[in-house]
Amino acid sequence: MAAKKKLVVLKQQPKIKRTGPKPKEGKFDVVLSTKKVKKAPAPSLILSPNERKSRAALERIAKDHDALEEASLLENFPQTFIDVGAYDWQCRVLQDLNEKESRVALKAANGSGKTSVIAASAILWHMVRFPESLVVTTAGVWRQVEGQLWPTLRKYVGGLGQGWRITSSELHYANGSRAIGFSTNDPGKFEGWHRQGPTENLLMIVDEAKTVPNEIFTAITRCQPSRLLVMSSPGSSAGAFYESFTKQRKFWDCHTVTAYDCPHLEKGWIAEQIEMYGENSPLIRSMIYGEFMDDSGEGLVLNLKNLEECLQNPPELNMGMRVAFIDFAAGGDECVFAYRNGNKVMEMVTWRERNTNTTIGKIIT
Ligand SMILES: Nc1ncnc2c1ncn2[C@@H]1O[C@H](COP(=O)(O)OP(=O)(O)O)[C@@H](O)[C@H]1O
Ligand SMILES: [Mg+2]
Repeated sequence: MAAKKKLVVLKQQPKIKRTGPKPKEGKFDVVLSTKKVKKAPAPSLILSPNERKSRAALERIAKDHDALEEASLLENFPQTFIDVGAYDWQCRVLQDLNEKESRVALKAANGSGKTSVIAASAILWHMVRFPESLVVTTAGVWRQVEGQLWPTLRKYVGGLGQGWRITSSELHYANGSRAIGFSTNDPGKFEGWHRQGPTENLLMIVDEAKTVPNEIFTAITRCQPSRLLVMSSPGSSAGAFYESFTKQRKFWDCHTVTAYDCPHLEKGWIAEQIEMYGENSPLIRSMIYGEFMDDSGEGLVLNLKNLEECLQNPPELNMGMRVAFIDFAAGGDECVFAYRNGNKVMEMVTWRERNTNTTIGKIIT
């Protein structure tokens, strides 16, 4: 059996003698120093002079960077550099053209600012922003380039400082960029232009595009510009410009502008024109409402105006009855086969075939 441990009674400890001031009754038994402790300095104050300098420099760079970024956007160019307060629709068009690889189509009322605000801003912005780059411009009528666009550019570069050199159809900037204006008489002139400069940029602009021949459009497409802007007051319902709003629409950022979107066009003048020519006359539809002229004749199931409206606001998909139809053409004319489900055409095939039996075989299979 293990031996029991003996309990030992400890000696009573002597009382502790306190020194210092007597604690106040009811307070914790802690004696605080009477010396004042300095507050820790705020974090910014503990930077050395050099650190402070570099922090200020960083803040300034961040601010400048934001300002630079803002100024570098095309939609801010008119206000910042040529002192023009662009309208909302002008900002939206320029915003779309700001993007590399953009294709922008603009049909707008006469005198809305296509040449003097949209084209002029895009050209100057491109030249300032992209050193050694190229801008190629044309208009349906050469007088437009020579008599309107270039004088406008001349006026604006006068306020843009040193480094600009302008002739009757060329504009050069000190950073090596240039803009050239061409007449559309010679499609050959539109071939062989390439993206240029370290950022590889080529802006092509077609003003009054409704009268520009299709071959010029083809030549321009072949140049593969990094940005392409085609604009016009709308003309007849045919040609490459018309197709950019219809058949080719999905490849373009399309914009339509009416006279009512342009505050500088007086309401009284608009009303007078409508009274003079009639609300539904082709001239008013184009000049005031920015619509293509419905000049394709009477007896159509769907007129151009309705088609345009439908493209702008497509109806809701409503599947249902299935219908197929064929437009059978002989002698090499175009044959069409289409299949519709409810209100959506699911398939449309077109072809040309001189041999009628081959066409019949194609339809059967
Ligand atoms: N944002 C704007 N602010 C003030 N005036 C404008 C604006 N946009 C266009 N304009 C005016 O519209 C007029 C016609 O412009 P212009 O470029 O010749 O039209 P378009 O080429 O569309 O026929 C110009 O003289 C210009 O003063
Ligand atoms: Mg114009």
